[in-house]
Amino acid sequence: MAKIFVTRKIPEAGIELLKNNNHEVVVSAQDGVLSKAELVASLKDQNYDAVISLLTDKIDAEIFDASPNTKIFANYAVGYDNVDVPEAKKRGIVITNTPGVLTNAVAEHAFALLLAVSKRLVESDTFLREGKYDGWAPLLLLGTELTGKTLGIVGLGRIGSRLAQYARAFDLRVVYYDIAANSDFEKMTGAKFMANVDELLKVSDFVSIHVPLLPSTKHLINADRLKLMKPHAILINTSRGPVIDEAALVEALRNKVIRGAGLDVFENEPKLAPGLADLPNVVITPHTASATEEARSAMSELVAKNILAVLNGEKAVSEVAVN
Ligand code: GLV
Ligand code: GLV
Repeated sequence: MAKIFVTRKIPEAGIELLKNNNHEVVVSAQDGVLSKAELVASLKDQNYDAVISLLTDKIDAEIFDASPNTKIFANYAVGYDNVDVPEAKKRGIVITNTPGVLTNAVAEHAFALLLAVSKRLVESDTFLREGKYDGWAPLLLLGTELTGKTLGIVGLGRIGSRLAQYARAFDLRVVYYDIAANSDFEKMTGAKFMANVDELLKVSDFVSIHVPLLPSTKHLINADRLKLMKPHAILINTSRGPVIDEAALVEALRNKVIRGAGLDVFENEPKLAPGLADLPNVVITPHTASATEEARSAMSELVAKNILAVLNGEKAVSEVAVN
């Protein structure tokens, strides 16, 4: 029997799987993000064999020191910028993430944000609730159509590729940028590879970001790059907040450098950049792109399967590599 710690309550599916395999699962009693000190205190002298961590937990040398018996940290997220992976590898600790199971949820959410901003859904809803509607009018709350426009996808992983498939149903042209071109994807979707991010920004009516947060992608979208975008462009981000310079984005939205933005992630979560929430041309959601019952449950199962594999001395299902 192994001992497994979960830093916060997650859907039951994976917990049950671990318990059914006769392991002891301890879920943090605190319903909230554990501070570094609280996390260290929870792990110390407990001899946990495995830990399920969240993207809000900073997993680094201090944590590994506090829990020297832990063979695997199974991160309950596809992104793992919260984990010091090189340090883990040095110590022979396995780090896993949850790829694949949240692809549809996040791609759907990115598309929902694109529709919400282009159709001004939230603004319209607020307008009605505030009692401002006094009858149909030809110029009331005009939005913009997707049909025939160009969607630029930055980062062609699973989620970016899925979004490209949805785009076809709306007769959007798709251009994309990634480290390398993908000819199979191009054949399947008719998408066109752009040599760099700047070119993509110049030709796109809508831009959706799907890169991981790395030193090389921090502030990938900054004030200069926002200026390359079309004045009617809409920017969508469901990846990680720091990929966009959020203060620069607020400025750009305020000054109509671009038309609007749909954001699920923020540079200093849970805080928003000053002024962001006052802008009518943004739709913001609280990092809930993967928050479907299906995805969150499948993520729970996948972290459990990763832990079971490692405890059995097998290869993890989705071990991450050092970036
Ligand atoms: C959510 O942001 C995730 O990385 O799974
Ligand atoms: C994440 O799952 C991605 O590959 O986009």
